[in-house]
Amino acid sequence: MSDYSSPKGVFDIIPRESSPEGAWRETHLWQYVEEVMRKCAADYGFQEIRTPIFERTELFVRGVGESSDIVSKEMYTFEDKSGRSLTLRPEGTAPVIRAFLEKRLDQTPGMKKYFYIGPMFRYERPQAGRFRQFHQFGYEVIGDASPERDVEAIDFILEIYRRLGLKNLSVLINSVGDEKSRNDFRTALKEFLEPHLSQLSEDSQTRYQKNVLRILDSKDPNDQKLLQGAPSILEMLSPEAKAHFEKVKQGLTDLNIPFQIQPKLVRGLDYYNKTVFEITSGELGAQNSVGGGGRYDGLLKSLGGPDLPAVGFATGLERLIQTMLAEQVPLPKRPHPLIFLVPLGEKAKEACLKIVFNLRHAQIPAEIDLQSKKVGNALQLAQEMGATYALVIGDNELASGEVKIKELSTREEQLIKLSELAQFLKKVGGNE
Ligand code: HAM
Repeated sequence: MSDYSSPKGVFDIIPRESSPEGAWRETHLWQYVEEVMRKCAADYGFQEIRTPIFERTELFVRGVGESSDIVSKEMYTFEDKSGRSLTLRPEGTAPVIRAFLEKRLDQTPGMKKYFYIGPMFRYERPQAGRFRQFHQFGYEVIGDASPERDVEAIDFILEIYRRLGLKNLSVLINSVGDEKSRNDFRTALKEFLEPHLSQLSEDSQTRYQKNVLRILDSKDPNDQKLLQGAPSILEMLSPEAKAHFEKVKQGLTDLNIPFQIQPKLVRGLDYYNKTVFEITSGELGAQNSVGGGGRYDGLLKSLGGPDLPAVGFATGLERLIQTMLAEQVPLPKRPHPLIFLVPLGEKAKEACLKIVFNLRHAQIPAEIDLQSKKVGNALQLAQEMGATYALVIGDNELASGEVKIKELSTREEQLIKLSELAQFLKKVGGNE
């Protein structure tokens, strides 16, 4: 068996898990969360975009940034049979922008607001809340530089969490400024850290050379100690970037969204400018970021397109569903038959099969037992499947045309005419 087991860091989404720890992988929860997300997207004016799972490697090198951890360490890159270098998408933003440019979506009418749901791939060390194949819901708004669109992004991601019943969340925001603010800040941070260079962790020493901003979110406690008193990017914002950030903060305040300003928040992808944000959950451990995003005004141009601003976010479905379970939010029932038929004997089986197919054709979820030797076992199966009603039919019932329908949760029985079964179920099914 072990030779065929799934690779490290991936998982199956299955109808039913045998242990409670696996409950977050149950299909109906994923379907429910995705449905809420799709409805939310429609309410905010977003349309779905589906891009391929793999892209040319250069797209991510250029788009996400050569010095980012994602590109330098975490990509699933392979050569296809003609020797092209391809990469399983580690994130959704660069592919959406690639599709936007390639398909000339700037020439299409209407607002450019796109959302996506799907798997992403990163070769990270698996741990709680961190996988090698994980799923994101994300969105991108292209062509609008207004700070109100940044506020919209934060409100949208929070609205999804609100609709799903999450409570214990923090909104962290920062501005990484424009190109000039970032360059000034890089120089200032390098100057500040230079005397302590040899005391920094090995990772941060590499980052000092390649991407000094990333030292700010080092998890190493000693690095964080050395960073005390470091300059803040917020002090170096250009007047325009500063005014933009002020409007974002004002917009969040107007919407009664509490937030914390986190001057060290830089995020792991290199395309950001101005607003960046992250939503964290107190229910998750070290990997506590449920979602994050920000503005990336320079990405389209750097990928060879027009100089259009953009903003977006992504949220991880695994962490989201795990947080929902940890917070014990109300969850939907798993799919179940409205009626479970138990035939007694061959004649009844024939009649029940007819009934069950007719019910299904009338869009009533119905199941039939074909195997149990004892009524008790059949009824237990009906219970396990979460059936709302059970109906035992034998020769007597067929002869009289009257049946006792049993509500499994209350054990109450009602006498109804067999010919009126579909009508009865249609009526009660509406309340499910
Ligand atoms: P990101 O912060 O890299 O941003 O990922 C967004 C979310 O994906 C995280 O907050 C987390 O919930 C989830 N996630 C990331 N890596 C893993 C993993 N290995 N296992 C499980 N969940 C994970 C982006 O990807 C940007 N493209 C977001 C964006 C869109 N920015 C602008 N537009």
